[in-house]
Formats: sequence, structure tokens, C-alpha cells
Amino acid sequence: MFREDFNSYKSQNPPLSKVLNFNDCKHLLTKQVKEVKVKMNAKAKFGLKPSKDWKVYELNNNSGLIFIKNPFTVTGQRYWIIRSLRDYTNKPNKLNLDIHNIIPQNEEFWTFSQKDINVMNKLRWATLGYHHNWDTKVYSETSKSDFPLDLASLSQYVADVLNFSEFRAEAAIVNFYHMNSRLSGHTDHSEQFLEAPLFSFSFGQTAIFLIGGATIDTKPTALFIESGDIIVMSKESRLCYHGVPKILHAEVNLLTNDNEEINGEELNCDTLEDCNDSIYWTTFQKYINNCRININVRQVLRPINSILDS
Ligand code: SIN
Repeated sequence: MFREDFNSYKSQNPPLSKVLNFNDCKHLLTKQVKEVKVKMNAKAKFGLKPSKDWKVYELNNNSGLIFIKNPFTVTGQRYWIIRSLRDYTNKPNKLNLDIHNIIPQNEEFWTFSQKDINVMNKLRWATLGYHHNWDTKVYSETSKSDFPLDLASLSQYVADVLNFSEFRAEAAIVNFYHMNSRLSGHTDHSEQFLEAPLFSFSFGQTAIFLIGGATIDTKPTALFIESGDIIVMSKESRLCYHGVPKILHAEVNLLTNDNEEINGEELNCDTLEDCNDSIYWTTFQKYINNCRININVRQVLRPINSILDS
């Protein structure tokens, strides 16, 4: 069932009318989704709007699959895009490009890609914190680097608003999609502590995302993920098959109204200035006009308390 639907959505003419569109929630409510109540934190942080303005839903058919309709400001989205492309691609984070030795030892991805556009087109993923091992699927104490503080704080803040306050960000995969990219159906089960939710932040072009059941025999639900949307896979949905059969161009011009005020004292100040420097931003805008970035944040280890209890 998952495979058949994946093939249908990846085709030239995907059945778009069957894809849940969270811009049209009045139509969806009660049938496919229900609204979720969240903590009303007074202060807007990490490039997010105040949580009283968030629109948060849970799928009726996939318990624990939470969808937050773009809670970011424009500057907030720009911040996470710049961090993903320019900074999270720095050593010692790992990139798909590493095995090909394309980037000289003494250079970082971003500076090198400004001289060689092919390198930019070849970027597919970066891993942060405990590095995902694509072959063995096993995390190792010998393959980890510091997890970026701002991304850990963003994830923990969103977790707290949704009442998952024990969440700790320990590993992330940043996926870089082009218009012809796909991500096959899979489950994320390498983490030791699968009770912890997984947080997925998306920026740039639109994805069709499929979320199915514990096996490939369940028919998946298809949703549009647009720039700024957050998906949380918790409870039963945490171990469900999911994938991205198609990337589509967004219906609106993304991230174009700049110079908006944000209170970003907890973010990197220089990067915040870069977000509102229209000349500096141009290169990132060009990238995002034809690409999508997805940052997938996981907790790997069991919390100390749960080890002591067992
Ligand atoms: C993933 O499942 O690893 C990424 C999902 C997405 O790109 O939305």
C-alpha cells in the first residue's frame, strides 16, 4: 500500500486533490485532523511567533503525528536556512560530499560552493550531533560532534510548548532536496529511546509527505509540507513508515518581505543581521527558490532517570 501510493505521488501527475492541505483546516477539521492545545508561552523565541498564534493539529488516523502550520516569522525562516546551508555544513559535521573528497581539507562547504556551483547542487545531507550511520544505522560514541546550541534550544522550546518537556536534541539530519529529489519510505528506529518524539522543520519548496503505519501494508496519508511547517512524530506515529515522493514549487514567492522586527536575543546576532541584509540574503534566496531543506532532530539516548528506574 505504501509503495503503490509512493509511486502514484511521485508521478508526473500526482493526485494532488487527495493531499491534506493545512491551509484549509476548516475543511479538514473533525474529518481528518483535530486541533491540539499547546502551552501559551508569552515570549516569541528562536524566530517563532508566540505560541498563542500557532495552529497545531494531530492526524486522526496517525495518533501522535502533530502538524504545526508555519509558526516561524520570515526572518526566523531565513535564520534557519542560513544556519543549515552555511554553518551546519561546517566540519566536524558530516556531509554526503565527504566520501568524494570534493571539498579541500582547508575549506568549508559554503565558501567552496560559492566558487563551484556543482558542489552546491551535489549537497544532499549533513549530520549533526550523534552522526547517523547510513550503512549500519547504529549511532556510536566514537562518531559524534557538538550539537548546535541554537538548534537544540529551538527543538527543546517546541517540545516544551507541546508538553514534551523532557526532550533532548542529540542528533540531526539536515536533508537538502532538489526539485527532482525523493526520500523513499522508511522508519527511524536507530535511536535507543524511541519514546522521545522526533521534530522535523522544513524550509523552502513544498513537499508531499506520506505517513503510513508500522508496516508498508498500511495505506499512508499524504500531506503538503510548506516552508516553515513543523512535523512532530510522537507516540505511535514515531515508528511509522514515512517518505517524500515529490517536491513541488511553492504557490507563493517565499521569504520576500524582509526587514521585519524579531526579538532574537537567544539566536546568533550576526546571523540575524545577515537575514535582513538583502544583498547577503540573495544567494540563499536563489537556493531556496529551487530547493527544500528539512532538519530532522532526534533524541538518541535514554534519559538518565529511565535507566535508573529499569
Ligand atoms: C525524513 O524522514 O528523514 C525527512 C522527512 C522530510 O523531508 O520531511
